Amino acid sequence: MSIVITGATGHLGRLVVDRLIDLGQPAGRIVATGRDTSRLAALAQRTGVETRRADFADPTGLTDAFAGVEQLLLVSTTTVGQRFDQHRQAIDAAIAAGATLIVYTSILNADTSRILLADEHRRTEEYLRASGAPHVILRNGWYLENYTDQLPVIRQHGVLPGSAGDGRVSVASRRDYADAAAAVLTSDAPTGGGPVHVTYELGGEAFTLTELAATLSEVLGTTITYQDLPVDDYVALLTSVGLPAEMATVLADADAGLSRGELHTTSDDLAKLIGRPPTTRDQAIRDAVAQQAG
Ligand SMILES: NC(=O)c1ccc[n+]([C@@H]2O[C@H](COP(=O)([O-])OP(=O)(O)OC[C@H]3O[C@@H](n4cnc5c(N)ncnc54)[C@H](OP(=O)(O)O)[C@@H]3O)[C@@H](O)[C@H]2O)c1
Repeated sequence: MSIVITGATGHLGRLVVDRLIDLGQPAGRIVATGRDTSRLAALAQRTGVETRRADFADPTGLTDAFAGVEQLLLVSTTTVGQRFDQHRQAIDAAIAAGATLIVYTSILNADTSRILLADEHRRTEEYLRASGAPHVILRNGWYLENYTDQLPVIRQHGVLPGSAGDGRVSVASRRDYADAAAAVLTSDAPTGGGPVHVTYELGGEAFTLTELAATLSEVLGTTITYQDLPVDDYVALLTSVGLPAEMATVLADADAGLSRGELHTTSDDLAKLIGRPPTTRDQAIRDAVAQQAG
């Protein structure tokens, strides 16, 4: 019986595979799945885990991909608008394959959030609950990398743009969320005591984007100002630098949700699951600067 990881060709899933190995799980017990076969081959070569192609849009193929599954990590997919159907098909296939635990990566406050991105997460959570399958929902907060990946352009313009007002966002690194997922997948607790229906709200440090700009200024040694824009203006700015309109709309809408507190949590579930404080913005920015310089 195996731990099957979906989205293992992506940033988060790959880190979960690495963490499972660090925790002492035998490579032979881990099945890493994704769509991109060249990335699957590289992962197999690097880690020794078994890899299988799995596309949630192809339910027939999922039967083979999930064969022998015990615990499944269902990493939410990227195609907004098609994700609920994809997740539903993956859940059905995991149950049919006999999964004893399905762990799903959702979004903070999925049950109450009005941001566009939350809709398919909420529907997936409802489907998972209604399925009766033992499950754990990891409501991941924002990635620190959403900001650190933009460092070169922020530094160049001296501006961090957004539509978040004074809203606070709870963030952590992908590695923190991956460590939390690996902790849940390897814990005796989720499957040891009968039916499991657990939801974790996961976030680390919370800050406003004005506070983030202040930290950026300090670490980069140059003034970075947070520029708060009306949502439509932020969409226009994002499209002007090359983002597809749909993506720009989703990102600006998420910032509007951030301004309403929908990407904020006071929960300490993440620190408890990983047994250490989540990565701070100061550390993430320093690490990103070092990495981007090297
Ligand atoms: N909390 C946040 O701030 C935040 C930010 C961005 C995204 N997210 C969500 O968190 C997820 C994981 O983040 P990430 O950084 O690892 O994203 P990522 O690097 O883009 O990886 C996404 C993964 O989803 C897989 N995938 C996409 N469509 C699929 C399908 N139809 N069937 C099976 N697999 C499919 C991709 O597989 P292939 O590459 O092999 O096609 C890839 O492995 C994202 O997919 C998204 O739902 C959260």
